[in-house]
Amino acid sequence: MSDMHAIVPSLDALASSAGLVLGVVVLTCYFLHPLAGIPGPLRAQSGLGGWQTVRAAKRDFGWKLAELHDRHGAFVRIGRNSVSVVDPAAKVTSPSLLATLDHDEHNLARRGVSPAFSMNLLLDLEEFVDSAFDDFIATSGKSRATIDLGTMLQFLAMDVVGELAFGQGFGLSKAGRDTGDYLPMLDAYTASACLSGTQPWARPILHRWLTRKLGSSGAAALGAKASVAVSRRLAELDKAAQAGDDSNLRKDVLSKLMSAKNPDGSPFSIAQVKVQANSILGAGSDTTSITFRALLAYIVRDPAVYNKVMQELEGAAEEGIVSLPLSYAAAQKLDYFQACLKETLRLHPAVPWVLPRIIPPGGASVACHHFAAGVEVAMSPYVFPRRKEAYGDDAEMFRPERWLEATAEEKKRFDRNLLTFGQGNRICVGKNIALMELSKLAPSVLYRYNLAFTPRRQAGSPHTLPGRAIDGRLDDKEPWHCESQWFSHQKDFWVDVSIRSGSQAM
Ligand code: HEM
Repeated sequence: MSDMHAIVPSLDALASSAGLVLGVVVLTCYFLHPLAGIPGPLRAQSGLGGWQTVRAAKRDFGWKLAELHDRHGAFVRIGRNSVSVVDPAAKVTSPSLLATLDHDEHNLARRGVSPAFSMNLLLDLEEFVDSAFDDFIATSGKSRATIDLGTMLQFLAMDVVGELAFGQGFGLSKAGRDTGDYLPMLDAYTASACLSGTQPWARPILHRWLTRKLGSSGAAALGAKASVAVSRRLAELDKAAQAGDDSNLRKDVLSKLMSAKNPDGSPFSIAQVKVQANSILGAGSDTTSITFRALLAYIVRDPAVYNKVMQELEGAAEEGIVSLPLSYAAAQKLDYFQACLKETLRLHPAVPWVLPRIIPPGGASVACHHFAAGVEVAMSPYVFPRRKEAYGDDAEMFRPERWLEATAEEKKRFDRNLLTFGQGNRICVGKNIALMELSKLAPSVLYRYNLAFTPRRQAGSPHTLPGRAIDGRLDDKEPWHCESQWFSHQKDFWVDVSIRSGSQAM
């Protein structure tokens, strides 16, 4: 009993000391931290953290961050050491946010993989995109059907990435189903990367919990796929070396990665190639399919936009400028379609999450605000481009014409304010591949099929979730249920399709 008395007061003492330490941390973060005074959620200002983690868990990041900026203005503290900015001046002052603030280590790593994504390779890659599209057409080519277009487009994007980074497609478009359980694997990968990115110290625990909850470890499963592809390519290389003939070897992203060099001139190790191939699958298929869905939906939902796109496409087909499968060169001549693509990238960026940059030693001024070294300053590709400061009073509207009417000066500003692929040293390495893929495939789908959103809340409707827009509005007229986490994924996107008359002739 006397022992118990000794323990209870010491537990009390421990609790009050912990409370004291916590109090000191909170007060320091709130009043003395270099970011003190920047408004934001209490959890971020007090240094307790977790605001981004909660948003990641609830998958409502973009619209909650937009609300905070509406309430507090240009700067919002979103973590103990992180600030989100929406001031256009952040893009024009020096150092320009996103474009120049960066880590040297990342720059070095980046130099090695850049040749794998060069413009020269793009032409060679087109044939792999075409072959994935052929499979898509073969499976979706019924005369009339209600299809889960959201999933079909993801299969198509996965097959293309498989062709580019793994040396062969995954055969999903052909099978018309997720033969390797890739989709839950990718969801697990992004969810665990996003959540653990907000709480790096808890990474192993979060990883174990997510693996159980989502039924896949994501990263491990992706790693296994990369290993198989790299081993297969190594065997092909061996065979070609023995035969003294490499003319049958594919020229794709994987082949470039296998001949990539480190900054010291040493060749990439097999482990490095696997990591890169792996990250391409994680970074390249969800993002492209999200943009693909959004692009088709923006065009189909507005008859005026749809008619203009189709007139342009039919005109080009009549003049013999385009044919199916569409070449990237031909697709770039479709000015109105290209404006629709830009407007889609602006309003429905696949990555709404903030893109962070670290303030270098000595500190830096961003949009006239001085930040101390080590502070993380970030911009969201979803929040900033929807603001009047970035694109004018109608910034929230889908209006492709803005890109065609803009003066040269405005065009430069519009391009600068578009953050969808990031900018500067960290810019998405797959940007050109994604633009090529979307420019080729979206007009091809529109030319080939009549598309209409399958109505929600009708007898026999296949939908399982309520309609939700990219900005978080619940609305049954929306064609999908959108989430806003690391990616702005759309679920439950059903479409009634039929083959357009005369479309085979193109
Ligand atoms: C519409 C499609 C895509 C979008 C919107 C997109 C967006 C992004 C963004 C926002 C980043 C981070 C940039 C930053 O921090 O500033 C990124 C990085 C990256 N993306 Fe993409 N991406 C797309 C397609 C692709 C494709 C098709 C590939 C590969 C074939 C790819 C591979 C990568 C890789 C490897 C990184 C990491 C680059 C690095 O850290 O240096 N992406 N992407």
